[in-house]
Amino acid sequence: MVLGEIREKVKKELKKLGVEKELKRSEKHGDFFIEAFDLDGEEIAETFKVEGVKAKAEGNYVNFYVDWEYWGKRLLDKVLKEGENYGREKMGKKVVIEYSSPNVAKPMHVGHLRNTILGNSLCRIYEFMGNKVIKINWLGDTGTQFGKLILAYKLWGNEEELEKNPIKELLRVYVKFHEEVEKDPKLEEKAREIYAALEGGKEEFVELWKRFRELSIREFKRIYDLLGAEFDEYTGESYYIEKAKKVVEELKKKGLAYEKEGSVILHVEGVPDTVIMKKDGTTLYLTRDLATAIDRYEKYKFDLMLYVVGSEQKLHFRQLFKTLEAMGYEWAKNCKHISYGLIRLPEGKISTRKGRVITAEEVINRSVEEAGKVMRGIGKFNQEVAEKVGLAAVIYSILKVDPEKFVEFKWEEMLRLKGNTAPYLLYSYVRAKHILDKAELKEFEVKGLKEQERRLLKKLSLFPLVVKEALERNKPNFIANYLYGLCDDFNRFYEECQVLGSEKEEFRVALVSCTKIVLENCFKLLGMPLVEKM
Ligand code: ARG
Repeated sequence: MVLGEIREKVKKELKKLGVEKELKRSEKHGDFFIEAFDLDGEEIAETFKVEGVKAKAEGNYVNFYVDWEYWGKRLLDKVLKEGENYGREKMGKKVVIEYSSPNVAKPMHVGHLRNTILGNSLCRIYEFMGNKVIKINWLGDTGTQFGKLILAYKLWGNEEELEKNPIKELLRVYVKFHEEVEKDPKLEEKAREIYAALEGGKEEFVELWKRFRELSIREFKRIYDLLGAEFDEYTGESYYIEKAKKVVEELKKKGLAYEKEGSVILHVEGVPDTVIMKKDGTTLYLTRDLATAIDRYEKYKFDLMLYVVGSEQKLHFRQLFKTLEAMGYEWAKNCKHISYGLIRLPEGKISTRKGRVITAEEVINRSVEEAGKVMRGIGKFNQEVAEKVGLAAVIYSILKVDPEKFVEFKWEEMLRLKGNTAPYLLYSYVRAKHILDKAELKEFEVKGLKEQERRLLKKLSLFPLVVKEALERNKPNFIANYLYGLCDDFNRFYEECQVLGSEKEEFRVALVSCTKIVLENCFKLLGMPLVEKM
């Protein structure tokens, strides 16, 4: 890492000068800086000596300016040599990432879409940095609604529809159940019986449940394929029912749970008491999550486990981690909830009650449609490209925002060709590719830099640091924002500096080649599709 190497040299020199200040990264004034309120900045700047780095005392700071004529060649050679491995590290940790986790027989909604896109990018970042990532989809595949679903399907289900459009058909009979139960309350009782029989292992029901589960996964996979998301396991909640019962015993033994009127209540310092086993002996969501975490640790001995789950479950995860800690599991401190906010759609708030759920697939389709409109508008429609642009727009609109903040979808803005949008990024890539299609990489030297060239070199040198920071803070938006800045710097360069046929052609072709490599790396880490033309 060239910038990392430079940083180490600066740090070493500062230490030699007896300056103990944190060396921070700078965007505006040079490449690094230290605060020097209580130091003699002038003196530091004067005595500081590192080849290829200038120190300047400015205000209350000492800023360090990397001389890119000195370091530029080295940077470009490195990027060209390493290619798609530029920025990689060998962290060597075992990381479990649980993400997506939709519910069987229900459509994936926009929340699941944000989840899947965020989780997918985190998996890619961790893998890129040399970790072993275990990707788990914890399907919501249990609960009393399966009693209703089985009954409803037996009464009103259509075999053919189930094969063709499983989730739609299951949703249809589920909605019908809720209508019918108004007229015939006995259905509720029947559904409960069926659920009990299902948990008891009655073959007919288990077979149906399995089918619903398989068919749902098949449908979810359509979206996963589109997004390039993968899973090593689809181990859902149902798998942990029996194990969860054992956890209840363990909690009682450890004095962390007590019985009250037949139910078992969890009592852990620092979080509110809560039921973990109902009177009838059934377990709860939290109980199953406890069993899951323990099982995963036994199985994988992970160094880190991330749960990508919406912010409305913050309390749930605080309870989960606190309880694991209280149970004496030391590794509980290595579990982390990656929380994210809502998506606001122009179509309005999603409401299940009104029976109007906007699915993940509908959102993507809509974006593709809108991308098509924009392309038709400039007389360059191509279905394949529109599909990729539309998908990239959805992914980018989600990832450019800090996970904790809400995302607002505005079709027109998302698909603009200029500004902080996916089409702008894609267009920049196509531009770089277009130049390189007509050029050849030759020997080059770096000298007489123009401002735009210097900025671009600096930006390229930053990539490895940005990926590292994105990983440390679990924020893919760091990479997304970097990518936007890179495109801006590249376009400024493009407008000011002629590449082909100029006297600096060799150097500039190398610079564009490196830009293309880093662009591709960013797209890959975000899980965004690229286009070759636009
Ligand atoms: N299936 C749940 C939902 O769709 C999310 C599961 C989150 N994961 C967990 N380990 N609790 O809301």
